Amino acid sequence: MRRPVRIAVTGAAGAISYSLLFKIAAGEMMGRDQPVILQLIELPDAMESLRGVAMELEDCAYPLLHTITLHDNVEEGFSNCHFALLVGARPRGPGMERSDLIEVNAEIFARQGKALNDFANRDVKVLVTGNPANTNALIASRNAPDLSPSQFTCLTRLDHNRARGMLASQCGVTARDIQNIIIWGNHSPTQYPDLHHATVFGVPAMGQIDTAWYRDQFIPRVQERGSEIIKARGLSSAASAAQAIVDQMHNWSQGTDPGEIVSMGILSDGSYGIQKGVFFSFPVRCNYGRYQIVHGLDISDFSRKQLTATELELLEEKSVVEHLLPKETEASHMNLTICLKSGVTLYADGSGPSAESKFMNNNRVL
Ligand code: NAD
Ligand code: LMR
Repeated sequence: MRRPVRIAVTGAAGAISYSLLFKIAAGEMMGRDQPVILQLIELPDAMESLRGVAMELEDCAYPLLHTITLHDNVEEGFSNCHFALLVGARPRGPGMERSDLIEVNAEIFARQGKALNDFANRDVKVLVTGNPANTNALIASRNAPDLSPSQFTCLTRLDHNRARGMLASQCGVTARDIQNIIIWGNHSPTQYPDLHHATVFGVPAMGQIDTAWYRDQFIPRVQERGSEIIKARGLSSAASAAQAIVDQMHNWSQGTDPGEIVSMGILSDGSYGIQKGVFFSFPVRCNYGRYQIVHGLDISDFSRKQLTATELELLEEKSVVEHLLPKETEASHMNLTICLKSGVTLYADGSGPSAESKFMNNNRVL
């Protein structure tokens, strides 16, 4: 048996967690041979409800569930965690945009960034789900001066999965037959679901669908899917969000299939001309516990306009939370030096790739 890994989850008595925790305990996220310790965090008022969730987890008798701990503060709850899933935040209701949540949720992520900095394992991998997810990830990351910004990500896998499911349905195939969807930008209605690199049964998707359907129906439907669900359910998506969290963390820690592209919200390093310093969803591949942006994809004029629109929205959101972004972390977020490429031998004597090479220049597996 492997040593257990510590997974901290905030908002652990909430709707998403009610699906998420059971998936993690069953081994869906970290693998069927990896025991887990769940460090569950809630607001003090929700601790009794959290106790009920913990009882249910116990009652499932999952062989991989090593220990459950319950915490009413993040400082204790993040202690030594290897993975931190920041779910806890207020969800939007009907008629709201996710950006309406900036004011109410932003402070939560400043405190959580500081707590991760002070108490989490040095190689912690963080996924922010609470909305607005991209900007909350920026706040958390900027408040963690001793961690690398590349240890922080935000959830855009739900949008990726939605796009995959909708395209499958349109083409009369299953989701497994669809590859290389890309979600660019913000987890908001400005996101850009890009099918120009997607394939259906290995054949370019754009040759198999009508361009008018793609632009007038598919794109807005993916962009507005969160609202469509809130309207229908009266509540925001929960089970599908939990599945997306599992998928994103599974790929990040266990890798993507050879050639597979997935979408992850990460700090922009300037790739594809996107301004540095904002969390932006990019196409990535993962291996050895790291992610790498997929470079060299063609960007049409149509795509460029979409990328710019979502980039501008993120810059605008950033300006609203400027007071929560400490100056001391500005430089590290504007000059992400760790270029996440693989296939490099790091020699103990320091020889190996030259300083100018674009390869990874430290040996921490992030
Ligand atoms: P919920 O209201 O059912 O649960 C949220 C839980 O978080 C509550 O139990 C609450 O007590 C707890 N909480 C609030 N502040 C906290 C804090 N500071 N520390 C610890 N716990 C705290 O909401 P939900 O449906 O689980 O959604 C959670 C968040 O995820 C919302 O912001 C929602 O908008 C967002 N979301 C994001 C995506 C995405 O794709 N990025 C998808 C779905 C939902
Ligand atoms: C979603 O996309 O379903 C979530 O971000 C919840 C929401 O507010 O739309």
